[in-house]
Amino acid sequence: MFDAMTTTAVSLKDVHLTLPSRAGNVDILRGVDLTVMPGEALGIVGPSGSGKTTLLMVIAGLERASRGFVSVAGQDLSGKSEDELSAFRRDNVGIVFQSFHLIPTMTALENVAVPLEFRGEQNAMLIATEKLKRVGLGHRLTHYPGQLSGGEQQRVAIARALASGAKIIIADEPTGNLDHVTGEQIIKLLFDLKQQDGAALLLVTHDRTLAERCDRVAEVLDGKIVAGAQPGALA
Ligand SMILES: Nc1ncnc2c1ncn2[C@@H]1O[C@H](COP(=O)(O)OP(=O)(O)OP(=O)(O)O)[C@@H](O)[C@H]1O
Ligand SMILES: [Mg+2]
Repeated sequence: MFDAMTTTAVSLKDVHLTLPSRAGNVDILRGVDLTVMPGEALGIVGPSGSGKTTLLMVIAGLERASRGFVSVAGQDLSGKSEDELSAFRRDNVGIVFQSFHLIPTMTALENVAVPLEFRGEQNAMLIATEKLKRVGLGHRLTHYPGQLSGGEQQRVAIARALASGAKIIIADEPTGNLDHVTGEQIIKLLFDLKQQDGAALLLVTHDRTLAERCDRVAEVLDGKIVAGAQPGALA
């Protein structure tokens, strides 16, 4: 059956997120509309505290919208249980963070293989090896994160994020902890892999020039997207 939602990678309509804090409720997202098409690269910019990371968390199913419509990879997230949300994340979304988020007591290979094992993948080690080769780390399989450079750690994180074949890649300041040259290599890698996998990429960055290398730039201000929310907007 044809389902209109499957034609978009991400579709948000009037999304609000209100969280309690000691000072009372905080309206973090205040009516976000956003459409991202499959295979599209979206740069997301905006001042510190404007809600960029929170927006990514809602799209990844890590935070639940207080109200509004959230469809990602053709799935309506609002009605899902916690278990359904984690299954959704596992299969559909690859997340890359500024601070890598690798498990320090596991080798590069284990960091990539363990999430695959959780998915019930029989050939997790083999697939993880291939994915690490794909990001140029075939010679670092048995290194621990502490034995890897920042750029290498981010490559492991990218291999892990994309290992399950997710069609939506979410990256929150992925070069924020890297020097310029290393950051540029990581960005090139992300764009190359996105292209090869036909995935949509949502890239949060403070670097306007980097954002403009995406197909489109969305601007977040005070919990809303004030420009570039729909396809067809210029980068
Ligand atoms: N769990 C939470 N509880 C209460 N307030 C929160 C929570 N998480 C974030 N906030 C608030 O929501 C606002 C948006 O935060 P968010 O991290 O999304 O901003 P950001 O645009 O990613 O900023 P930066 O560019 O500094 O990373 C901030 O004012 C922050 O203090
Ligand atoms: Mg942030």
